Parts: sequence; structure tokens; C-alpha cells
Amino acid sequence: MNTLKINNLNLIYKNGYNAINGISLEIKNGMFGLLGPNGAGKSSLMKTIVGLQKPTSGSIEFNDIDVVQDTDYIKKNLGFLPQDFGVYPKVNAYDLLNHIAILKGVNNKVERQKQIQYLLEKVNLWNFRDKEVHTFSGGMKQRFGVAQALLGDPKIIIVDEPTAGLDPEERNRFNTLLSDISSEVVVILSTHLVEDVKNLCSEMTIMNKGRILKTGKPKELIEDLEGKIWSKFIDSDELEIYQSNLKVISQQLIERQLQITVFSPTQPEGFSPVEPILEHVYFNVLSQNS
Ligand SMILES: Nc1ncnc2c1ncn2[C@@H]1O[C@H](COP(=O)(O)OP(=O)(O)O)[C@@H](O)[C@H]1O
Ligand SMILES: [Mg+2]
Repeated sequence: MNTLKINNLNLIYKNGYNAINGISLEIKNGMFGLLGPNGAGKSSLMKTIVGLQKPTSGSIEFNDIDVVQDTDYIKKNLGFLPQDFGVYPKVNAYDLLNHIAILKGVNNKVERQKQIQYLLEKVNLWNFRDKEVHTFSGGMKQRFGVAQALLGDPKIIIVDEPTAGLDPEERNRFNTLLSDISSEVVVILSTHLVEDVKNLCSEMTIMNKGRILKTGKPKELIEDLEGKIWSKFIDSDELEIYQSNLKVISQQLIERQLQITVFSPTQPEGFSPVEPILEHVYFNVLSQNS
């Protein structure tokens, strides 16, 4: 079992912006969802975990090794798919993986060939191994990104908004691939899409403005809202009144009628009960802290 322990982490950028504000988390093998809107601090947190930037204070330990002081250990055991992979050099997929494998310390040539073939087959790119990566579609690039992240048998895999720009089918395939891997290693997936977390992650956290707002198992967080979510069709000019009296967590136009969904421990007059879903958890937490 691998364990990542983050304790009271703070990151203040040079311009004074406090992007990570007292974050503590313990993450074990399996798929962990880091969910939050744009600007929440997800990429800042991930870049700090992988050692691309030092925190202002606090600690990060991976398998009891302080990875802020000693970045070698996590780098050696890490697969990272950054949000912005940047520019691909003009070499084919196979050669690029070979190059990355060497950088990751897979020194044995036969072992390297074996891993590259296995991974290219796993991400359905073996038939495209002779094509240059910059000519790939968005989905193929992301799958290539996963293959490079998996080289060298990492113990921790960190993927930052990996499904952005993928069509629904590519997204599904990509998510399934990640979840297949995740039983043996720590996988941290950052996303602003509830959908990505819903079916895949055994644990999740919701963050915004550099803080953790809620952590738990998706199923349990949903169960906590049982009997507390209600909806009603209203006239759109009544919205403000409802917003001032109730906690409105979402609103939706259905056939030109406005339906609002609210969080309330007891049934508000005229409202019907709604079976809670993960979106309700997310919007409820965010509306408490915006
Ligand atoms: N190098 C930087 N210097 C100053 N502020 C930054 C820097 N990088 C990110 N930020 C700010 O930190 C906040 C969090 O950004 P980021 O971690 O990219 O969030 P997310 O990945 O959740 O969208 C944003 O307000 C962003 O503008
Ligand atoms: Mg980001």
C-alpha cells in the first residue's frame, strides 16, 4: 500500500497570491478525485506534490519519505500528466516514449521495449507508433500522455484535468484505463467535472479558493444529503425571493419553466423531494463557500 500524506500545506506565489491554504489530505491506493472549479488551486496543488514548486510551508510525505526536501524519491516513482503538456518534438510516438523511459531510469533496453509495447497496446496506440505525436488528435495525445505517465512502473500517478478536450467516448475509454490501473497505485485525478469523479473515484475532495471544503467517499457524501434536497417549479421573477429565504443550489429551465433545487433539512412548502446525486453535493458545498 502506498500513502501520500499532505499536512497543513500552504503556497503563496511570488505576487502574494495564496493558492494553497492549509490543505491536509491522506491518499492511499485507488482513484482519488480532486474536484473544483477553475482557479480552485488544483494545478497548484499537483505541481507542488510532484516537486515542480516548493510549498511556502507544510509537509508532503510519500510512503513516509519527505518529498519536499528529497524530490528524488517521488520523481523516481511518479507518473505525471500535466494539464498543459506543451509542445511535442517532431519524433514518433515510439521514439518519444523510449526517450522518456531513459529519462525515467528504465536502463535495460529489452525491458524498455517490453514496457513501451505493452503501454502503447494498452492505450490503443500501437498501430500509430511510427506517427509523430504532434499529428495526433486530442484524445490520442491524452492517451499518449497516460502511456508516458505509466512508464517505469510508478507508485503514484497524477493526472491534471486529463479529460479536458476529449469527446464523451474518448473520455470513457480514458477513465476506464485509469481506473484499471488504480488498484495497485495512488491515482490522483483533478477535474472540474463531477461526471469524471462520479463513477470512478473511491475517494474525493472538493476544493475551492485554495482550501479543502469536503472530503469523503462519493457514495457517503451523497447519502448525507438524503431527505435534504427539494425542488419546485417557480416563476422566474420569484427567484430572488426564494434565494433570500432558502439555499438554492441549482436552477434549470425545463420547457421554459424555471425549476429550482434547494438544500433544506426540512421540506419547504410546495417543494417535492429529490433523490440526491453528486452534483448536489458539489453545488451545495460550493454555495456554502462562495
Ligand atoms: N505562478 C503563479 N503565480 C501567481 N498566481 C498563480 C500562479 N499560478 C496560478 N496562480 C493563481 O492561483 C490560482 C489557482 O490556480 P490553479 O492552481 O491553476 O487552479 P486550477 O488548476 O484549480 O484551475 C488562480 O487564481 C491562478 O490565477
Ligand atoms: Mg488547473
